[in-house]
Amino acid sequence: MTPKLNVVPFVSVDHMMKLVLSIGIERFLLELCAYVEDDFRRWESFDKVARVAAHSPDGVIELMPTSDGAAYGFKYVNGHPKNTRDGRQTVTAFGVLADVANGYPVLFTEMTILTALRTAATSAVAARHLAPKGARTMAIIGNGAQAEFQALAMKALIGVDRLRLYDIDRAASEKCRRNLQGFGFDIAICDGTEEAVQGAEIVTTVTADKQNATILTDNLVGAGIHINAVGGDCPGKTELQAAILRRADIFVEYPPQTRIEGEIQQLPSDHPVTELWRVIVGDVQGRTDGRQITLFDSVGFATEDFSALRYVRDKLAGTAFYEELDLLADPDDPRDLFGMLLRAAA
Ligand SMILES: NC(=O)c1ccc[n+]([C@@H]2O[C@H](COP(=O)([O-])OP(=O)(O)OC[C@H]3O[C@@H](n4cnc5c(N)ncnc54)[C@H](O)[C@@H]3O)[C@@H](O)[C@H]2O)c1
Repeated sequence: MTPKLNVVPFVSVDHMMKLVLSIGIERFLLELCAYVEDDFRRWESFDKVARVAAHSPDGVIELMPTSDGAAYGFKYVNGHPKNTRDGRQTVTAFGVLADVANGYPVLFTEMTILTALRTAATSAVAARHLAPKGARTMAIIGNGAQAEFQALAMKALIGVDRLRLYDIDRAASEKCRRNLQGFGFDIAICDGTEEAVQGAEIVTTVTADKQNATILTDNLVGAGIHINAVGGDCPGKTELQAAILRRADIFVEYPPQTRIEGEIQQLPSDHPVTELWRVIVGDVQGRTDGRQITLFDSVGFATEDFSALRYVRDKLAGTAFYEELDLLADPDDPRDLFGMLLRAAA
């Protein structure tokens, strides 16, 4: 049978949910962690560029491309913290994977759910290399759309099973606790950040606010903790008091992007940081002692989306969790595009 050259598998939100649930959320996260880590290991084989961002007063729209020479991927993603007020998501996304050899897309997918999964998987991979060994307690400051994913990835990969939740909107923390029932967590809802970080070996900040906020102050950061700073991911949008950054060993994805978007935008542009991939390949040691404060200054990088696209593509084979999109023109004679248009009128 001649392969259909015009169709591209498309994974809708509905199909993505079915795919994730059919695999199992924690297994999905674990397998995705492996893909993310594999791609960090071959960091040097990727084309890398800081994402292209279009800023407006209320948010940002970004394009995130990368390629490993065989496949090309990109994600369209937004960040609009005020969106939740009228029922929209802060972050939505979709993405494409394509074959470099002929330029044809091989996958088109929703990436709102997939972004939450890949962000959580990346946090967990970073924590495996940077957090204190055997860490079980994590504070999560900001209990919105990303929060449960962060919790489950940390559980699946490194065994975190005690959560201390804080959100300025208690209803968000209640939602998070409700959603995580049955996943084996011991969960406390706290009245403030100070209470939430008590006894936490990992502190995840994942709030949404388009400003230089101070979600975590220096006096709350004790020796030996790992900070997973996820919400500060845009110029003028940070979560940590600058003094924390001066005490911490800072690990980043792609420095040219993180210097613009991450917590380190608050620091001089030559402040030393370590690229996470160097720790993963063993060039540099991550955590060196029990008193060290490690900080993963996460902003989200294109290779992580590429890993997620690759994973979904591999998992789709043999399932019914996609539809075929008539996305590409396929005239009988490749040079007779116009003739194909005319014949459609007949
Ligand atoms: N680093 C990455 O790769 C990555 C990926 C996805 C999302 N993000 C970022 O993560 C953040 C959260 O995303 P989301 O989809 O969960 O957003 P969301 O709007 O669904 O949730 C954010 C939560 O933060 C809470 N919050 C706001 N200010 C707070 C404060 N001062 N203290 C405590 N809680 C506070 C809000 O009440 C809300 O519940 C966003 O800033 C987003 O841009 C980063």
